[in-house]
Amino acid sequence: MSVYEKNQLLKYSLKEAELLTKGELPVEYFTGFVNFKNLDLKVNQNVLIPRVETEELVDLLINFAISVDESFSYLEVGTGSGAISAAFFDFLLKTKKIQFEELMITDVSNEALNLAKENFTSLFGASALSKIRFLKNDLLDNFPKKRFNMIVANLPYIPSSKIETLDPSVKDHEPLLALDGGETGFELINKMLEQILNQDLLVEDGKIFLEVYETHNLRFIEKRFRKIYENFSILEIKDQFERQRFLILQKI
Ligand SMILES: C[S@@+](CC[C@H](N)C(=O)[O-])C[C@H]1O[C@@H](n2cnc3c(N)ncnc32)[C@H](O)[C@@H]1O
Repeated sequence: MSVYEKNQLLKYSLKEAELLTKGELPVEYFTGFVNFKNLDLKVNQNVLIPRVETEELVDLLINFAISVDESFSYLEVGTGSGAISAAFFDFLLKTKKIQFEELMITDVSNEALNLAKENFTSLFGASALSKIRFLKNDLLDNFPKKRFNMIVANLPYIPSSKIETLDPSVKDHEPLLALDGGETGFELINKMLEQILNQDLLVEDGKIFLEVYETHNLRFIEKRFRKIYENFSILEIKDQFERQRFLILQKI
């Protein structure tokens, strides 16, 4: 058992011996909580356990929000436990000078969306829900006609053929709906990007922030997803483990 797991169990007054009976069950599903950007978020097996790399995606959002002068609107697609948006909202509350017009948060899973709402309520109080629109939606199908300054998504990005090679703690316990990104892993992301273009959902200097699989670099997109390559300027960013992990896109 890792030091991290032991600390997690201690924090929630659970016994080491009990986790040992749970096979490869991740400790966060056992305690029911994960710490993300200093927030204690509820998790269950309907949602992915937010990863430490994803905290870096939040930092990218925050840096951009600081640079936007006017009031802005924000959309997250595929929120899961609500981790990214909760950490971003926490930052907005703490730095009162940043004005936002609208925060929209979506997921295709009702269970995930309910848990995200629960997390927002317990972290920020019921009044926070009046400032945020939660929407159950399949990507951006039949989406309201709106334009956003920032769109963020950590959609499923594991290529289908790689799912079997994942650690049992992941493939046997985390929801497939949160992992499987189709043939190349980029299928859902590509569909969402095409919807953003076709439905004109991004303001002129707006940005899209994506977490992606380590093979999803500029060369891969140029080769396999020409429409995206030709319509966006794309910045590649590595994570703390030196793996290609994030893309920031802007309409050309
Ligand atoms: C990799 S998980 C990320 C969850 C969370 N944003 C995070 O960073 O921890 C992907 C999320 O996308 C959702 N999802 C999968 N397919 C979707 C779709 N077609 N439309 C919207 N959300 C989808 C899943 O339910 C899941 O919550």
